Amino acid sequence: MSDTGEEWQVARRRKGTARKPKTLKVCSNSTCSQEPLDVRKTVQRIKDTVSELKCEEFWQEWKEQMLAALSKPPDQLTGSTDGTLSQQLECVCYGLGSFSSCVSARYQLAMLLLLLDAGQIPLKDCSIYDPAFSSGEEDVLRELGVTVLTENEEGKRLATKPTLFYLMHCGNALYNNLLWKNWSTQCLPLVIIIGNSFIGMSERTIEREFKRDYSYITQAVSVCEERQLPCPSRLIDVFSDTAVITFPTSGLNGLPQSTWAEPPEPQYQHCPDLEIIRNETRS
Ligand SMILES: C[S@@+](CC[C@H](N)C(=O)[O-])C[C@H]1O[C@@H](n2cnc3c(N)ncnc32)[C@H](O)[C@@H]1O
Repeated sequence: MSDTGEEWQVARRRKGTARKPKTLKVCSNSTCSQEPLDVRKTVQRIKDTVSELKCEEFWQEWKEQMLAALSKPPDQLTGSTDGTLSQQLECVCYGLGSFSSCVSARYQLAMLLLLLDAGQIPLKDCSIYDPAFSSGEEDVLRELGVTVLTENEEGKRLATKPTLFYLMHCGNALYNNLLWKNWSTQCLPLVIIIGNSFIGMSERTIEREFKRDYSYITQAVSVCEERQLPCPSRLIDVFSDTAVITFPTSGLNGLPQSTWAEPPEPQYQHCPDLEIIRNETRS
């Protein structure tokens, strides 16, 4: 544990082996501090992380890949032929994690702020929700200017205009729910996801179970376009396995018409360990 109260996973060196670089450790609830948060200090720390990421080479590639996804193809999304954005985008971020105690989540938040800036998305048009946020973290987010959601939507957010969904290392059900809610040839082209690669997800799970439990991701894998995003080894736990995922109309039109008729809401009755927190007040 560092003196800032954040966890680092330091590779222990065996005799004769080369020194390995530090890698950032994924969040764990046990590291969450219960002490009141110093909002000003936390905001400053996030801004420092933004400045740090801005100097990283891989950030330039993230930016280029995102802008390419947002501006192409011009007839479906927001872009004009010169690559500039012609329509205001909005953003929804789920599952960021506790960024005051978890260094991975803080880096992901800093990356989100950079992406909003690059995509010319006003901070207030970025809605953010994680049931793990403390009230102090919500204050920090409001101070930064983003909109903190109070309802657990379980990822079921309808895109009524082009929307960037930022879901870093979230449970599969969050992506599956998002796809279900937007399951039409009109809505899916409005959805741009920066999150776990669907291809990676399907490869890591037993095929039969993946098809049964995450049917919308299963169908989307073959028709979505994934642009893999680079990740330096030092930040492997923060930005690994991430892609920009879009849904070009041409691919969607290739799916059988029956796919779109009354898509059933996912129930997950075979998933005792769903990895997302349900909204208990929803029926
Ligand atoms: C595996 S953690 C990832 C945290 C962080 N992004 C990272 O990469 O370390 C998944 C996150 O999803 C959040 N989560 C669970 N259910 C959610 C829901 N219904 N809506 C939004 N976020 C949710 C959890 O609280 C947790 O912070």
